Amino acid sequence: MLFSLYKESTVMEVESIQDKISIVQNSYGRCLASGDVLDTFYQEFLGSSPEIKERFKNTDFEKQKKLLKHGINLMIMFAAENLAGKSGLKRIRESHDSKHLNINPKLYDLWKFCLLQAIKSHDYKYNNLVESSWNNVLDKGIRYIKEGY
Ligand code: HEM
Repeated sequence: MLFSLYKESTVMEVESIQDKISIVQNSYGRCLASGDVLDTFYQEFLGSSPEIKERFKNTDFEKQKKLLKHGINLMIMFAAENLAGKSGLKRIRESHDSKHLNINPKLYDLWKFCLLQAIKSHDYKYNNLVESSWNNVLDKGIRYIKEGY
């Protein structure tokens, strides 16, 4: 117990944001190679609440999965402070704001939880460090999108 706490706090301190981005990119690569991680995500997300299911009632999921695949890449690029990532996420921030899709900011916690569940079941190397790296990367983009609501 003591050892794992020690290990976790060490890990939190030594990993730079660049290291975390590489960890996330490798995890995402393993997920995409392992099968349809975005299909798993949408099953989790739609099953998590009737409100979410209702929002996607007219969605073409083959198209939507491709858009989200790219959207997650943009989140990773944004966390790396890449300019194309910033402009791509700016567009998603606008499409999800109160004047467009009107996505309530409280729904992003559920979105992240369902995505992490899907990643966990598709990445055979998933561990605490992979999870905390994903949390760091996703939190940055989610904060930015929510601020635009
Ligand atoms: C950071 C988290 C999210 C990302 C990266 C993301 C990404 C995307 C992308 C790329 C699209 C395609 C349209 C576009 O490019 O603007 C989209 C559409 C959509 N998103 Fe999100 N999204 C996120 C969170 C959410 C949440 C929390 C909801 C809550 C219900 C949501 C609901 C929708 C809906 C309803 C659509 C339109 C689907 C359709 O065209 O039928 N999104 N999202």
